[in-house]
Amino acid sequence: MAKETLRILDERTNADYSVSVNKGTVRAMDLRQIKTGPEDFGLMTYDPAFMNTASCQSAITFIDGDKGILRYRGYPIEQLAEKCTFLEVAYLIVYGELPSEQELRNWVNEITHHTMLHETTKRFLEGFRYDAHPMGMFISTVAALSTVYPESRNVHDREMRKLQIYRLIGKVPTIAAYTYRHSLGFPYVYPDNDLSYSENFMNMLWRMTEPKYDANPALSRALDILFILHADHEQNCSANVMRAVGSSQADPYVSIAAAAAALSGPLHGGANEEVLKMLDEIGSKDRVPAYIDQVKAGHGKLMGFGHRIYKNYDPRARIIKWAADQVFATTGKNPKLEIALELERIALGDEYFVKRKLYPNVDFYSGIIYQALGFKPEMFTVLFAIPRTVGWLAQWQEMLEDPERKIARPRQIYTGYGERNFVPIEKRTVQKSAAGQ
Ligand code: CMC
Repeated sequence: MAKETLRILDERTNADYSVSVNKGTVRAMDLRQIKTGPEDFGLMTYDPAFMNTASCQSAITFIDGDKGILRYRGYPIEQLAEKCTFLEVAYLIVYGELPSEQELRNWVNEITHHTMLHETTKRFLEGFRYDAHPMGMFISTVAALSTVYPESRNVHDREMRKLQIYRLIGKVPTIAAYTYRHSLGFPYVYPDNDLSYSENFMNMLWRMTEPKYDANPALSRALDILFILHADHEQNCSANVMRAVGSSQADPYVSIAAAAAALSGPLHGGANEEVLKMLDEIGSKDRVPAYIDQVKAGHGKLMGFGHRIYKNYDPRARIIKWAADQVFATTGKNPKLEIALELERIALGDEYFVKRKLYPNVDFYSGIIYQALGFKPEMFTVLFAIPRTVGWLAQWQEMLEDPERKIARPRQIYTGYGERNFVPIEKRTVQKSAAGQ
């Protein structure tokens, strides 16, 4: 049997080393022994943007980017989207197994009874300007919950963590719905415990004067499916932030707020909002070829296309396309769909995109559904953050229980000055690089 080791010949010293290979990976710390002399710190790896570095071991989500496979805890995303409710999948992601009927009942009951916000948190939300971006309100309000639940700092207490998990999964739809109502100037609607997770979210978004909200089943199921598809995606930018912030033993509310901040960027979850802006800018199907030419010439990106891991069709985008048809059967077709389909058709046949393996990702079609459901583009990333809270919590919990856990603290290659003497202010000259400040 082949040895699970890697031999390294250091041609600077002619020294020979052998390091273990485990699951196709070498430990960066095993390279530290490789030195040119006693003064040498030892060899490090350099990997900006983590292009080829595993930052943890995880049993939550599996992605094969070349084959377009996504599984939560081993179950294919297609099966989960077809057969489960979002809270069932949330249980699976957090605890590792699908729940029994009794376990699911208890779980749903716990989450449902933690949907209410403290009245002071409601007033906190009222302090935002009428045109505040919903994602900014969402991030700040989740962080503010840290002041309501100071006991959550006790991150090593499993029972305490469980309570925060119920609270966070329960409260994020309420916060999201309140940011939406705030931007419209409508009164906030309290959660209704008789409704399912997505029906209740719709109730808090859209109930006006009717005594009981009656959710359209096709729309609430489509929302549930969208939530399932967005629930986790292994070590993406925001999951990495969740683990990094959580590794300092910060409480889960501020850690989730930090992860949501990472999600808000246009290269990550903010892309769904950008896709709609792009489709607006294109305006009509006949202008798609010109827009693609512009992208190929280096002016901007095709938003909702490309992925660090998927070098094949994003399996979530395929399911979203199917869910879009279910939504449009109720709401009527979103006219943007025609432009999006034409963009996809042309891009998938164009050498620029084919060569770079750029396919539609989850954000390409989700915004079109959200818009058909009646959301403004500013709400789209908040709709992503609700289900992703589940993934962040599972990643956080796994990190805290990992025996190898330590505070996340990367190294750097220092490229600045060597030691130099202080210059008094009257002797300093204006530096060219700073002059334009
Ligand atoms: N449109 C046009 N060209 C692109 C695009 C795009 N959307 N994405 C990548 N490229 C090009 C890029 O310019 C580069 O070309 P070249 O080799 O000539 O320099 C090549 O493809 C490789 O791209 P990269 O930037 O090295 O890839 P990355 O893995 O660092 O970035 C990405 C991945 C998702 C940030 C990027 O594809 C992108 O910016 N896409 C648009 C934004 C987007 O849709 N983001 C959502 C991602 S999925 C959901 C989520 O994470 O929340």
